[in-house]
Amino acid sequence: MKQKAGRDDVMDGRKPGQWLIILRELLRTPRDIGALCPSSAALANEMARPFGASFLKSGYLVELGAGTGPVTEALLMRGVPPSRLVVVEKSESLALCLRSRFSDVNVLCCPAEELKAEMGGLAPVLAVVSSLPFRSLPPAVSVAIMSETERILAPGGLFVQFTYALLGEMPFVPKTFRKVRSKIIMRNIPPAKVEVFRKPKAEADGPDISAGGSGAE
Ligand SMILES: C[S@@+](CC[C@H](N)C(=O)[O-])C[C@H]1O[C@@H](n2cnc3c(N)ncnc32)[C@H](O)[C@@H]1O
Repeated sequence: MKQKAGRDDVMDGRKPGQWLIILRELLRTPRDIGALCPSSAALANEMARPFGASFLKSGYLVELGAGTGPVTEALLMRGVPPSRLVVVEKSESLALCLRSRFSDVNVLCCPAEELKAEMGGLAPVLAVVSSLPFRSLPPAVSVAIMSETERILAPGGLFVQFTYALLGEMPFVPKTFRKVRSKIIMRNIPPAKVEVFRKPKAEADGPDISAGGSGAE
């Protein structure tokens, strides 16, 4: 479904109840939240953009750091089947909120750095979509999460991440991942950059890195 652009687009992801939940979690664990409010619909839609209905004929998409669920909602609206979506959220109250909003989605309440153990036999993982605040998390945690992500992601799989740092390279992304898309979204508070990376299909694909940005689909 097309979202209306403009002011509504920015406000959409910040329904009052969700804003309050995020604010409460921000006061409790500021480094884990790393944001003042939920992502706008414009940002969430850009995160979901590579995943049309045909993307997941088999396998799974894992969302990391779902918060109150704006990106989860965009992924479902884009056509990702709920049974193929695994949502990971460390905060118990946010996981509760997600389970009540998306009763047919598998919500795992665990730290992303322990993901592989929590995933059980769910494979292959064809994409990881992350809203984790890598710049505010302790560096050792960010490194652990990215190595877990690299481990679970199938060869050729996509990794999507947003950052509020509009300039410079995304930190902690494995050097072998190839950037295939980069887009700045102004209709968010604050504006954010969404980047899409592809894990190499085989070892030989690794060193052939390009910083192109022409689209992941
Ligand atoms: C910036 S908020 C993003 C929330 C939502 N996806 C959005 O776009 O509005 C980051 C989320 O990551 C979660 N988080 C932080 N560290 C985590 C970790 N190690 N494992 C899983 N989730 C984590 C926080 O609880 C928070 O909900």
